[in-house]
Amino acid sequence: MRFSCATILFFASAAFAIPFSNSSLPTSFPVQNQPTHPKPLVRCANELSLDQIQAAIAQYKSVPTPSELFRPASLIQEAAGIPVYFHVIAMNQTEDAGWVPLEQIQAQMEVLNSDDAPVGVQYNLVKVNYVINPDWFISAGPSMPQQDQMKAALREGGADSLNIYTVSFQDPAITGLLGYSTFPWDYAGNPQDDGVVVLFSSLPGGSTENYNLGRTVTHEVGHWLGLFHPFQGGCDGDGDLVDDTPAEASPAEGCPVSRDTCSSPGVDPVHNFMDYSYDSCMSGFTPGQIDRAQSQIRSFRQIAI
Ligand SMILES: *[C@@H]1O[C@H](CO)[C@@H](O)[C@H](O)[C@H]1NC(C)=O
Ligand SMILES: *[C@@H]1O[C@H](CO)[C@@H](O)[C@H](O)[C@H]1NC(C)=O
Ligand SMILES: [Zn+2]
Repeated sequence: MRFSCATILFFASAAFAIPFSNSSLPTSFPVQNQPTHPKPLVRCANELSLDQIQAAIAQYKSVPTPSELFRPASLIQEAAGIPVYFHVIAMNQTEDAGWVPLEQIQAQMEVLNSDDAPVGVQYNLVKVNYVINPDWFISAGPSMPQQDQMKAALREGGADSLNIYTVSFQDPAITGLLGYSTFPWDYAGNPQDDGVVVLFSSLPGGSTENYNLGRTVTHEVGHWLGLFHPFQGGCDGDGDLVDDTPAEASPAEGCPVSRDTCSSPGVDPVHNFMDYSYDSCMSGFTPGQIDRAQSQIRSFRQIAI
């Protein structure tokens, strides 16, 4: 096993003092298995407007050249491994209620390290943090106050540290979501918000059919590295700011090989990690995406690559 693990710390629920009031314990959202999800699954919440893309480009152009941002030479070796803090939020200590077995987290790290090896980054799991908090488990999600509370209490490390949270997205406002992430250029303005949040049952061996090989984390970490969806902007314009991902009118579902939604050259990149296909359909990043990810994390995450 290539899994490298410095220290795994377990925080038993009783020992981990996360304040949540007894009265706020939700009773009206029973944990359900995936097939009974009332809404279809949505792979990702990272939809951006053209204005947001333009702002990101402007921000990228305004940062100092990468060499000015490199860490001192003595720290470069350490920076080659991205520290990962894995926060498992659960209802109680059963797997259906979010208590993801450690083996699934180790398998997830192997998938991520294998998928991202061509990018030239390696991820080192430094902590697994088990937290019982029904409110966060059910309602932490984009623009939800529970997400802010969760990240404020749990996030660790600096710009180069990857914090991954597993939750259930069961609140009606966010039901069916598989995951979402912050972007590298968001870090400076809101460091506490930085990180990736995914559906707990999307990890390898989890119960979410077609999305349980660990590619939800790969996709969301793709955003964390600075990548957009290949269908960003549809058939027109600069799309995902990468030249070698063919334009795509809309997200792919399932594995529609030879789908071709734009008149520009190339079939839709349905095998790309940044599309919305099934986990089994996804197989890689393009060289252009790898270049972009490297320059983004060099500039915004102080990762020497
Ligand atoms: C928590 O709520 C339950 C149900 O309302 C109640 O029976 C119990 O006494 C409460 N526990 C505490 C510590 O307040
Ligand atoms: C864990 O939580 C689930 C969902 O609320 C519940 O169905 C189950 O009975 C709980 N299990 C234990 C051991 O508390
Ligand atoms: Zn996405």
